[in-house]
Amino acid sequence: MTAVNKIAVLTSGGDSQGMNAAVRAVVRSALYHGIEVYGVQRGYQGLINDDLRSMDLRSVGDIIQRGGTILQTARCKEFLTPEGQQRGADVLRARGIDGLIVVGGDGSYQGANKLSKLGIKTMGLPGTIDNDISHTDFTIGFDTAVSIVVDAINKLRDTMTSHERSSVVEVMGRHCGDIALYAGLASGAETIIVPEVSYDIDLISARMRENFEAGKRHSIVIVAEGAGTGAEIAEAITARNGIEPRVTVLGHIQRGGSPTHNDRILASKLGDYAVQQLMAGDSGKACGVIDGKMVSTDIDKVVNSKKPFNMDLYNLALRLSQ
Ligand code: ADP
Ligand code: F6P
Repeated sequence: MTAVNKIAVLTSGGDSQGMNAAVRAVVRSALYHGIEVYGVQRGYQGLINDDLRSMDLRSVGDIIQRGGTILQTARCKEFLTPEGQQRGADVLRARGIDGLIVVGGDGSYQGANKLSKLGIKTMGLPGTIDNDISHTDFTIGFDTAVSIVVDAINKLRDTMTSHERSSVVEVMGRHCGDIALYAGLASGAETIIVPEVSYDIDLISARMRENFEAGKRHSIVIVAEGAGTGAEIAEAITARNGIEPRVTVLGHIQRGGSPTHNDRILASKLGDYAVQQLMAGDSGKACGVIDGKMVSTDIDKVVNSKKPFNMDLYNLALRLSQ
């Protein structure tokens, strides 16, 4: 027995590596259990426009390794309105679709929450590079984004060391410093600037000057965009210590490319789990993995709570970056 017979899946908001792996898992898991499955093109915009297509096993072939999303994604203003949300629910009902899986970030979860309140059975999967979704240790795409940043910093280090120069690297994360934190720790950045922790630019500048004088041959500052731009930080440093760091803004490079095996596995587990939860009659939940265990939490709770910042990791990075 299953509580759903026909479901749909969409990707929404900023894309992330591994969204395709999640869509593949949803489609294949649903079909395995004899559930019909539809793909919605361009997130909530496609839902409102009734832009859905039936998915079969082959429709998700050869995508597990691809970045982006074959379903495409969109930011849809109309869906922010009660009328837009009602239209989305009506489209699903008219097609006899009784469950929807939304792969996206915080905003997309809010949309799923609204649909759930309109009686649609919904499940959210955390698809964002930012790792800013609570009630899951990691989001789909975060691991890949961090590895892209680490790879970029490895390259920057080579040339910084040759020239005894410094770099300020601006990474994504409007409200969450996790990309900066994890990439900063993994790449040995000297300074990590994140929105969650206040920083002292005088101290950072003085330390950079002292380190160069003590024989350090490079200096990497990593800044999450939510804490300031790379250009602002570099300018402030120069004004204080006369050193002119080169600024690198990684931008959307962080959102593209082939997902790491970690992201593919996370997406595969979560996609399969979401289908099983819908089959069991669960709804209005966000799926995640905590300490290796699959969990589903009320979307309401997830969108209304902030993921705690990992101060232990931040302090570790500080201790090791001398
Ligand atoms: P992300 O999901 O990556 O956080 P956005 O914040 O841009 O990305 O949200 C994606 C889409 O989700 C929005 O374009 C909108 O259609 C929908 N959405 C966002 N917030 C809400 C909300 N409060 N209510 C209903 N839909 C929302
Ligand atoms: O939410 C993911 C994210 O990549 C953020 O880190 C970033 O601030 C934002 O999207 C940028 O989105 P866009 O450039 O698509 O407007």
